[in-house]
Amino acid sequence: MVVILLGPPGVGKGTQAVRLIDSIGGGEHISTGDLLREACRDGTDLGLEAQEFMHKGELVPDSLILNLIRDHLTTTASETSIILDGFPRTIPQAEGLDSVLSDVAREVSQVVLFEAPEDELIKRLSGRRSCTDCGAVFNVHFEPPRIEDECGRCGGLLVHRADDQPDTVRNRLQVYESQTAPLIEHYESHSAPLKRVSAMQPINDVQLAFRAALEIG
Ligand code: AP5
Repeated sequence: MVVILLGPPGVGKGTQAVRLIDSIGGGEHISTGDLLREACRDGTDLGLEAQEFMHKGELVPDSLILNLIRDHLTTTASETSIILDGFPRTIPQAEGLDSVLSDVAREVSQVVLFEAPEDELIKRLSGRRSCTDCGAVFNVHFEPPRIEDECGRCGGLLVHRADDQPDTVRNRLQVYESQTAPLIEHYESHSAPLKRVSAMQPINDVQLAFRAALEIG
């Protein structure tokens, strides 16, 4: 499978990707957001270039993203399932993805669109806390950590992502509408089937609906 997870910031793409990989016993979860944050932490050229866009809630240029993703897709074994989280985000990225996949004789098998209203997205992002060590994600509104600011999985420090501040969130939502939402029609009118999943349910129920969309028992 090569599955694309589409949906606005905070809808739960990362949460669902991690659970799916656990339940199918493996696969490659490729989150361009996580890869970019890692590059920022490591201070690489990519990280330095990406940082200014990410701080403002803007998209990082397509050329940088396509170079980053090409390395990952071309080194993943052909039998490994790939879950793409936060990529593609523009039509040129979707076209670039098709081209890289065709170089390795693969194609997109499914696109899943997670949906939730904007006030819910804002609440989820305002309450999200991410572990600086293991990357686990919590939410002070829905899934509070047992000890404040401490990761319940590894004991690491929990932080509120810089781009989860209200002004940046508003911009990210606008950027999603103008640059990423056109992918919905792109995929509905192209080859890969697009399925819609309501993210307005408890996390485990979203996962069940996600698996049903992928026709996994
Ligand atoms: P990225 O990290 O990809 O951010 P995003 O798409 O905005 O997605 P999020 O990580 O914010 O949300 P999510 O849907 O994964 O939600 P989550 O599962 O965490 O990108 C960050 C930045 O990097 C971009 O702004 C851009 O600058 C750059 N970038 C990345 N990819 C790029 C690309 N391809 N091109 C250009 N630039 C790129 O859940 C959110 C919260 O809600 C959590 O606290 C979770 O616990 C909670 N939650 C989840 N599901 C539920 C539920 N059902 N009920 C209650 N709470 C829930």
